Amino acid sequence: MSSIAFGIDLGTGNIKIYFSAKDMIVNEKNMVAVMKKDILFAYGDSAYDMYEKAPQNIRVSYPLVNGVIADIGNMSSVLNHFINELTDGHSAGADYYVSVPTDVTEVEKRAFYDLIKDSGVKPRKIMMVEKSLADGLGMGIDVKTSQGALIVDVGFETTEISVLSLGGIVLSKLIKQGGRKFDDAIRSVVRREFGLVIGEKTAEQVKISLKEIEDKHEPAVVYGRDLVTGLPVERSIPTDLIDNAIAETASTIVDNVKLILERTPPELSADIYRKGIYLTGGTAALTHLDELIVKGTALKVNKSENPQESAAYGLARVIKDHNFRSVAYSINEMSEDA
Ligand SMILES: Nc1ncnc2c1ncn2[C@@H]1O[C@H](COP(=O)(O)OP(=O)(O)OP(=O)(O)O)[C@@H](O)[C@H]1O
Ligand SMILES: [Mg+2]
Repeated sequence: MSSIAFGIDLGTGNIKIYFSAKDMIVNEKNMVAVMKKDILFAYGDSAYDMYEKAPQNIRVSYPLVNGVIADIGNMSSVLNHFINELTDGHSAGADYYVSVPTDVTEVEKRAFYDLIKDSGVKPRKIMMVEKSLADGLGMGIDVKTSQGALIVDVGFETTEISVLSLGGIVLSKLIKQGGRKFDDAIRSVVRREFGLVIGEKTAEQVKISLKEIEDKHEPAVVYGRDLVTGLPVERSIPTDLIDNAIAETASTIVDNVKLILERTPPELSADIYRKGIYLTGGTAALTHLDELIVKGTALKVNKSENPQESAAYGLARVIKDHNFRSVAYSINEMSEDA
């Protein structure tokens, strides 16, 4: 029986699952809505729809925090539901390729393995792939022969900055800063300058549509609650205020990219200089971020075409092309009957 395989990139904000039998990637919010402590009410995008709107008896949360699994129980049930949905309940015996951040503890890394092993999906094999290698493959880099590739993955709660060479990772740093920090910065500036409280979803929407708004030379129109009157109001926010908030937040990312560059062996620096930085993760699409990195490092920036899904595309390449299997490793040589 030819086996099916899944490539799983568990993000703090979004879960991306590559499913070999249909050669497709599912990308949904990595969220869960739970009622009365343990009754699963919704998961994925439908749980996100309830976020910031649910009544008190429904708790909507993210099972991952800062790129690592914080709530293994809920993460298991979310994964189990997605896999069962994709396979109509016939998932037993599948192979799993899971992308993992590099700069985390062994215990945190192992939790990704345990998650698959214990979530009831009955895996045949569980293999790990460092996320930056998966990202590199997903962006079309031949990571096995390529020397000195700098990958910057800016996600929802994390940014992972890694230097790859010859199928391995030379340096990697995970910082707790991603798209959510930009949303927070927008919320803060709106609160400070306009006395207006806006929700996370509104701030994210402003961030995502910022380029479009700027192209039209219009202010960003937001709805929220007035801090003084407590009433719902509409306000127009000049985009330069938002741009400043973005630049301030981006400076941490730029500084950390510079730090990694300072630590990179000189021969690899030369390669990075020639090829430029590879920018991916959903926040790679944030307007001005690439310009700010170019300004801070004087390097060229290559933006991913599918930033949210580059790691999942990379896992798909590992699954489909035996040539790339060697970038995957097993945490435990799990025997077939274990
Ligand atoms: N067009 C866009 N402009 C700006 N930001 C965007 C855009 N599209 C998506 N994002 C942001 O991308 C982030 C999600 O990216 P991604 O799915 O790569 O994160 P993740 O993998 O879940 O998180 P992490 O890697 O930190 O664990 C969100 O913060 C979202 O607001
Ligand atoms: Mg990610």
